[in-house]
Amino acid sequence: MIVAIANQKGGVGKTTTAINLAAALALRGKPTLLIDLDPQANSTMSFLDMQTVTASVYDAIADPAVALEDVILPSTMANLSIAPSRIALAKLEAKLVGEMDAHFRLKDKLAPIRKRYPNIVIDCPPTLGLLTVNALVAATHLLIPIQSSYFALEGTDDLLETIEKVRMRPNPALKIIGVVITMHDKRTALARDIRAQIQKVFGGKVFKTVITKSVRLEESPAYKESIFTFAPGSSGATEYYSLCEEVIDRA
Ligand SMILES: Nc1ncnc2c1ncn2[C@@H]1O[C@H](COP(=O)(O)OP(=O)(O)OP(=O)(O)O)[C@@H](O)[C@H]1O
Ligand SMILES: [Mg+2]
Repeated sequence: MIVAIANQKGGVGKTTTAINLAAALALRGKPTLLIDLDPQANSTMSFLDMQTVTASVYDAIADPAVALEDVILPSTMANLSIAPSRIALAKLEAKLVGEMDAHFRLKDKLAPIRKRYPNIVIDCPPTLGLLTVNALVAATHLLIPIQSSYFALEGTDDLLETIEKVRMRPNPALKIIGVVITMHDKRTALARDIRAQIQKVFGGKVFKTVITKSVRLEESPAYKESIFTFAPGSSGATEYYSLCEEVIDRA
């Protein structure tokens, strides 16, 4: 499966979900590739020292002569490899203007390595631009993190519209695997309200697993570790592992 983690709203937990879902999939024993498609490179920094990143997904997408395999780096976790990002990715849109296959670049580059990585997780930037569209065209599944906040559902119409456009032509097989509520605070009535609202809009698409607020989840990237080695007994570890099980069941 190729899961794109997307929501054009910033700071909703895309990267936190991408890194820990990828880590959970790797823990289950299958080779997993985490593709960082965000010029901010937060997923990359969560596992690698940026000084070791000399080539990025940008080089593979922009240059027909560079294979994705050429830029992939191992992480310290078994079964987890990273296709890193660098700020250069921000230039991609300008670089690909007018190219007929601009939306298909990532899909084409993934084709030769799909067998090597049964699980691929793509962390998208907070936009609906060319990078996110490349992810949606390449993906088999889309996972939408929605932050448990008063403005949670703002902008989801635009996201759903983009998905429908992608489904119309380039990728009719794209499935919304689910919506995960992130940074939830179980104690507040407002958070319960918001959860009900999200459920009203997305119904059965909402995963049973809810990711609660946890300082451990915020801290782990600074130590270049997933939540599973950084704080194995924490709520974040339990929740992301159970999200991973739901993802596998639905895939
Ligand atoms: N469950 C959580 N509990 C506490 N903090 C969290 C949780 N999930 C994410 N965060 C923190 O919230 C911030 C935003 O999360 P994250 O970077 O995952 O969002 P994002 O959607 O990838 O952001 P961007 O749109 O900028 O790429 C980060 O500082 C992250 O550590
Ligand atoms: Mg991010």
